Amino acid sequence: MMPDDTPTIQTDKLTRTFDDRVAVDRLSLRVERGEIFGLLGPDGAGKTTTIRMLCAILDPTDGHATVAGFDTRREPEQIKARIGYMPQHFSLYGDLTVDENLTFFADIFGVRRGEREAQKKELLEFARLTRFRDRRAAHLSGGMQKKLALACTLIHRPEIIFLDEPTTGVDPVSRREFWQILIRLHLEGVTLFVSTPYMDEAERCSRVALMFQGEVIICEQPREIKRRIEGELLELRPDRLRQARHELSDLPGVLEVQTYGDLLHVFVDDAAERQPTIERALSAADISLQTIRQTRPRMEQAFISLIQKRASE
Ligand SMILES: Nc1ncnc2c1ncn2[C@@H]1O[C@H](COP(=O)(O)OP(=O)(O)OP(=O)(O)O)[C@@H](O)[C@H]1O
Ligand SMILES: [Mg+2]
Repeated sequence: MMPDDTPTIQTDKLTRTFDDRVAVDRLSLRVERGEIFGLLGPDGAGKTTTIRMLCAILDPTDGHATVAGFDTRREPEQIKARIGYMPQHFSLYGDLTVDENLTFFADIFGVRRGEREAQKKELLEFARLTRFRDRRAAHLSGGMQKKLALACTLIHRPEIIFLDEPTTGVDPVSRREFWQILIRLHLEGVTLFVSTPYMDEAERCSRVALMFQGEVIICEQPREIKRRIEGELLELRPDRLRQARHELSDLPGVLEVQTYGDLLHVFVDDAAERQPTIERALSAADISLQTIRQTRPRMEQAFISLIQKRASE
């Protein structure tokens, strides 16, 4: 076992290029034991590449990483024995039942026969799949398939689990259920490293790294990230979004305007002071306003704001 103060995951300028494209750029991270660490980023940010390097499946082109105290390049087998990895496109065997899938993965990971049944039973209950144990995996709902994939990932009781967008494409109810399982694992002391494109999931993490074009642009607790965005936030629903955005962008006191669905998020230095000016400007441009209210910035806005700043640099 590693001593308690050893970080579970540590990377030092970890880099991966494909031809001349940099997928992960000098990533330096430290994840402590027992954390739920979130890797948040848009498509192509480098999340999967990072996770594959940490799981010792893909070698870095530069820099290095240790997982559970072992070097990913020199000691991949020690790492693989201690981690669980749920890839972005996890392959269950559709023709096999829930039970048979678990047995299959128990075989792969060398789970001893004596422990196997107890472990399967516990995981089935954990994932609330006991009722479905004889159903073929192909006939499960999307959310249940994800839970089964997680159960297969947990069959050898890993101390660190890597989950690559585990809930993408799953309905909100199943997503919440899936997270309840993750929280239980967290309470049992397992270290979780989760990539996600969803901001609400990022808020559940102990710390989050925002990744953009291969680089981590911030790595903090969610509340710290939210604190980083400047100003106060007004949320409004105008009838002509693009024109409204145009009208407001250059008003005094307006720091930033983001479009969000049919809403505008306007960051201002002082919400109480600027709200009347904003209302007047819209009214002068003949844009009607359905709602306007002050709200607390969430991860989503912080994320967009940080990425917009980075992209414009
Ligand atoms: N095997 C590969 N060969 C060439 N380029 C690759 C390879 N794997 C990844 N890339 C490139 O590296 C960059 C990062 O990809 P990666 O899959 O790590 O991103 P991601 O954050 O996981 O994206 P997504 O949210 O779409 O899964 C992308 O530009 C991608 O095209
Ligand atoms: Mg990916």
